[in-house]
Amino acid sequence: MVQGGIGMIDIRQVNKIYPGKNGKIAAVSDVNLHINKGEVFGIVGYSGAGKSTLLRCINLLERPTSGEIFIDDTNLTNMSIQELRQARQSIGMIFQGFHLASSKTAAENIAFSLQVAGMPAKKRHERVKELLELVGLADKADHFPAQLSGGQKQRVSIARAIANNPKVLLSDEATSALDPSTTKSILNLLKKINEELGITIVLITHEMEVVKEICHRCAVMQDGKVIEEGRTYDIFSNPKNDLTKKFIETILEFNIPKELMATCTGTLVKLQFEGNIANEAIVSDMLQAYPVSGNILHGKIEYIRDEPLGIFIMELLGKSDAIKEALAYLEKRMKQVEVIQHGRNH
Ligand SMILES: Nc1ncnc2c1ncn2[C@@H]1O[C@H](COP(=O)(O)OP(=O)(O)OP(=O)(O)O)[C@@H](O)[C@H]1O
Ligand SMILES: [Mg+2]
Repeated sequence: MVQGGIGMIDIRQVNKIYPGKNGKIAAVSDVNLHINKGEVFGIVGYSGAGKSTLLRCINLLERPTSGEIFIDDTNLTNMSIQELRQARQSIGMIFQGFHLASSKTAAENIAFSLQVAGMPAKKRHERVKELLELVGLADKADHFPAQLSGGQKQRVSIARAIANNPKVLLSDEATSALDPSTTKSILNLLKKINEELGITIVLITHEMEVVKEICHRCAVMQDGKVIEEGRTYDIFSNPKNDLTKKFIETILEFNIPKELMATCTGTLVKLQFEGNIANEAIVSDMLQAYPVSGNILHGKIEYIRDEPLGIFIMELLGKSDAIKEALAYLEKRMKQVEVIQHGRNH
């Protein structure tokens, strides 16, 4: 194995084709992705999009029908079974269903992967203790999986996955079975592992909330293909593909009640603020410069990782010429201005 790399992943022209009863199924189709070392990279898509298949291709649990997988300049697709077994120790994996051995305690579940890697018993004991502390389960060492909550079970499986200091952690819907607050605590743990240990994380999910919370960059998959990829903030603030827009809507969309729309006589406009807008008085400048008045009907600021993205719906009142000019002014200063209902009685 090449030394010195710390978790850069290159997925080159990967295809995975399954034989199906009614012809071949292209589960993964011509996928090219470059995942930087130290990055949290999300892959989203509906059921059947090919997310799990692609993830399993990364550690060659599935052998791609064609294409190559590189981790730190090492081509995994060329390796012998023995080399691959060795290489897999630097790739941890966690799952929605935890995959813990029910007859083993939390400590024993974690110790098992150290044992497989050949760590002597005494060192194992210390390492397990360290890992249990890292994932916040120091007091649950002797609990069996059945005695642990879903979140705690996922913590055990995370400890097990990172036990051998992997460069890469693959996560297949690790939070999908958990309630929102447990999801948040597991995402915080993954964030900590990424930041403090520098482990590259590739996670797949159907929840945009998960991507929003921890992914630096993400890709959207549909029918085996990557249809859009980019910085998570850019995907949220400026989605290009219709499916991506649909995913984003689950977080950003809100509807003004019909009754309220009906009573508004002014022009309703949706404004999107990107980045640090606290110091920018775009709206108040506009209200001062043009003879219009405005009411904020709805406002929402979402933090994409830590960057704010604000969406406001305003009603603008005034003569139609003044409104036109005010809108032109806003369009000049902001990336996204959308009239959602034209004014009446002007
Ligand atoms: N072992 C297999 N044999 C045949 N077809 C398969 C196999 N594994 C997956 N597929 C097919 O490949 C496609 C992609 O499946 P995959 O499990 O990768 O999707 P997914 O995006 O992970 O979906 P989900 O969100 O439901 O987990 C599906 O059409 C699936 O039926
Ligand atoms: Mg899946």
